[in-house]
Amino acid sequence: MIKKKSVEEILEIAKIEEVVQDFVQLKRRGVNLIGLCPFHSEKTPSFNVSPSKGIFKCFGCGKAGDSVNFVMEHENLTFPEALRYLAKKYGVTLEETELSQEARAEQQHLDSLYIVNQYALEYYRGQLFDTDLGKSVGLNYFRERGFREETIRKFGLGFAPDKPDAFVVKATHDGYNPELLKKVGLMSQYGRDFFRSRVMFPIHNLSGKVVGFGGRILAKDVKAPKYINTPETEIYTKSKVLFGAFFAKRAIRQLDECILVEGYTDVISLHQAGIENVVASSGTSLTVDQIQLIRRNTENIKILYDGDLAGIKAALRGMGMVLEQGLNVRIVVLPDGEDPDSYLKLAGVEAFKTYISQEAKDLVMFQAGLLQEEAAGDPIKKANLIRDIVESIARIPEPIKRSLYIRECARIMEVEEQLLVNETNKIVAQHFRKQQQEKERAQLRQFEAEQELLQAEPARPALKPKEETAAGDAFQEKDIVRILVAGGASMFDPEEKLTVAQYIISNIEDVMEDFDNKLYQRAVHLTRERLTAGGEANTGFFLNHPDAEIREMAIGLVTSPYEYSENWAKRWEIFLTTQKMPDENFISDSTQALKRFKLRKFDKMIRQNAEQVKRLFEQKSDEYLIYLKLDQKLKALRNKLAGELGTVVL
Ligand code: CTP
Ligand code: MN
Repeated sequence: MIKKKSVEEILEIAKIEEVVQDFVQLKRRGVNLIGLCPFHSEKTPSFNVSPSKGIFKCFGCGKAGDSVNFVMEHENLTFPEALRYLAKKYGVTLEETELSQEARAEQQHLDSLYIVNQYALEYYRGQLFDTDLGKSVGLNYFRERGFREETIRKFGLGFAPDKPDAFVVKATHDGYNPELLKKVGLMSQYGRDFFRSRVMFPIHNLSGKVVGFGGRILAKDVKAPKYINTPETEIYTKSKVLFGAFFAKRAIRQLDECILVEGYTDVISLHQAGIENVVASSGTSLTVDQIQLIRRNTENIKILYDGDLAGIKAALRGMGMVLEQGLNVRIVVLPDGEDPDSYLKLAGVEAFKTYISQEAKDLVMFQAGLLQEEAAGDPIKKANLIRDIVESIARIPEPIKRSLYIRECARIMEVEEQLLVNETNKIVAQHFRKQQQEKERAQLRQFEAEQELLQAEPARPALKPKEETAAGDAFQEKDIVRILVAGGASMFDPEEKLTVAQYIISNIEDVMEDFDNKLYQRAVHLTRERLTAGGEANTGFFLNHPDAEIREMAIGLVTSPYEYSENWAKRWEIFLTTQKMPDENFISDSTQALKRFKLRKFDKMIRQNAEQVKRLFEQKSDEYLIYLKLDQKLKALRNKLAGELGTVVL
């Protein structure tokens, strides 16, 4: 077992945002980071990472936890495996106590499968570089294809000799349990080698572990399939893997684009030529799982097809799913008879790059152009074609993008734009009600999840006391109390002889019982008492208050830098335009603070109303529609207030 001391050390060092960022592209929003959830399929980001709390939380699917939980979940690891992963990432040496044999076997089950695969990789590599046959057949083949030694080593390429059970015998001799060899698909049920007389392409998962292999036959006249792949195992599911993803992920993120090719050799050739953002679907059409793998790193995908039109048309039929996932897809058709690998060799890197950037056509446009040619002069074909295109366009989530497509397609296909608009709208409308319902449910879920996150404690007790931050809902309250403490005695309206404190208190009197933070509540109560007794609520009143908690709070408020709530921007998607310490202009700041405070009240009402909607909806009562209307009214009022605050509502 890993010693507690080591566990604590890792938890302290492993920053949630750094750990997550190895797998998910994150953007900053306020003090949090957000991105597309790696655990479920989504089009708009609801996966939140809170560096200050050290946790992640997805508002969509509800998954949450700290850095260790993230690694466990994402990489399908056990707790100790995840710790080992983090230890490696951060260069921490783990101290371990001895495990019972049984527990160790249990713990290392998946690990052992990866280890066998890694052993196999090294075996095949040895066969390639260190045996006569390997060198003359395998290595020679790779060299003829133009692969340099460093590339061959980087991708872990190898050679499986033409012997019935050479690998199984060697592995067993080296102490690997035949059961294990069978479990990773390297041994057939008859105890033979699964891969024989083939060059070997290891397949890595996103974190670089070998999950399986592809083997290419070299003999030309044999009936056996050109490629065979590891059968499905506990760690290898073909439809969930993209070849090359591990080597490509950094470049994909940097370039914000993923190039998709068909074959192993295409990936390797392009990579070697410095085009590293390349993955292969390994000869099959893209699956949802593979799309999600790509979407963790980018929304832009460029698919390279060889010049075979029939093949392209077949492939395009499966693309609706990709559009639905909100990806921007562009298509490059390579010159006739060329695949990416061969065309790269023919044209050279620079010409290749120019070609794929100049020839890239938007998927829908491409489809329109392709079919247009085909349907020319045939009205029935043309009608069908319009239906196909409209189907594709209607799947695109963004309306603006849809209308751009419609305009362009109308031009290409020589039909009235209005006709396409009408047809598209019909389909869009068909899905609208359903989508709307789903959306409302999702919103409710998200709202609940946010509330939960705001209250969430770090999944494990923090090892060091974390910096004090304004707790969730209490932020607006803090804002108000800060102004009371710093500028309560300033004049709000000199003619009326109204102080800032008087103005604030008179405006919040009706909601003082609703304060979430008991200390701030006490502060406003004390202020009111003070004013009622004819006193002045100046800074000294708070700083010298007999109540020690009030004194400390006041000191904190006047000395700490002015901070805006992390939740503010996150919850309302509002960007604050004023970021200054409110000590120069108490009049406008107290007005603003009150508006923000009221905004929060709206928030509460909206939430309560939303609960009502949900309840009635679940009871199948039509009455929910009334509250749904109210929801819109409340939101409109809230947004108006937000507008007055000089803020932008997205
Ligand atoms: N493939 C497969 N099984 C086959 C043929 C192909 O799994 N019988 C997959 C492989 O992943 C292969 C990809 O489809 O890489 C593309 O096939 P192909 O274009 O035939 O192979 P290349 O990768 O181009 O290989 P080569 O250039 O060596 O012919
Ligand atoms: Mn090829």
